[in-house]
Amino acid sequence: MIRFERVSKRYPNGREALLNVSLAIEPGEMVFLTGRSGAGKSSVLKLIALLERPTRGTVTVDGANTSRLPSRAIPAFRRKIGVVFQDHKLLPDRPVFDNVALPLLVAGTPLRELDKRVRAALDQVGLLGKERVLPGELSIGEQQRVGIARAVIAKPPVLIADEPTGNLDHGLALEVMRLFRRFQEVGVTIVIATHDLSLVQESGQRVIHIDNGQISDGLVTAPVPPTAPESPSSGLRAGPGPDLGSLPNLQARR
Ligand SMILES: Nc1ncnc2c1ncn2[C@@H]1O[C@H](COP(=O)(O)OP(=O)(O)OP(=O)(O)O)[C@@H](O)[C@H]1O
Ligand SMILES: [Mg+2]
Repeated sequence: MIRFERVSKRYPNGREALLNVSLAIEPGEMVFLTGRSGAGKSSVLKLIALLERPTRGTVTVDGANTSRLPSRAIPAFRRKIGVVFQDHKLLPDRPVFDNVALPLLVAGTPLRELDKRVRAALDQVGLLGKERVLPGELSIGEQQRVGIARAVIAKPPVLIADEPTGNLDHGLALEVMRLFRRFQEVGVTIVIATHDLSLVQESGQRVIHIDNGQISDGLVTAPVPPTAPESPSSGLRAGPGPDLGSLPNLQARR
């Protein structure tokens, strides 16, 4: 689903953030990116979301080479990727409903569908009934869950999260991780950048460790997911994709 081939990223100030990074993340995998501050974790996520382009090498997401996408294809590409930020980036003066609905509004979803979809997304994160509340009236953990509802409402096949639990205590962080696991269970590919090694260890998921812009292989654990074996070409294959139709039914699966 996500493939980096010898990717380097140099920012305009000359800073070489990533050096010759190659990695493959299979459809439906949940992967943690770890590494010290400045190692390059956010840079990897930005390259996946096409917020940045590689200086050298190739980034392929869902079969699309991000360097070769024509500009008219970029909005549709970005809609395939849900983004969760550490500080959730909610609009403080808009109620929860508007914040969660935003990606659908941008995508031109008919208004009559919005209400149903927003309620389904809020239900998934355990916040049904909070539609009219302003973000500032919610706890930090609830705000983070609103951010996750917004990230998944358009049913993206890929979800990336940059330090999504950085502002949460351990209990809330575990709750957020369980939420991510449920999205993984319905086929969403998830990449989470985090400093929190205890969370990573408890999750038992694959870890990609970045050190000074490079993948440090010695710390990659469980590199072969049990359901989707890695092969040199597998990241590029066109598969059937995740079963996103089942996302709204998450509540019922509990
Ligand atoms: N827009 C930018 N312009 C210039 N340099 C940047 C930019 N973004 C990141 N960098 C530099 O690239 C390197 C990698 O940054 P990145 O944000 O990817 O690290 P990180 O692993 O996410 O760190 P943190 O854990 O602190 O968030 C750092 O040295 C950083 O200063
Ligand atoms: Mg970062």
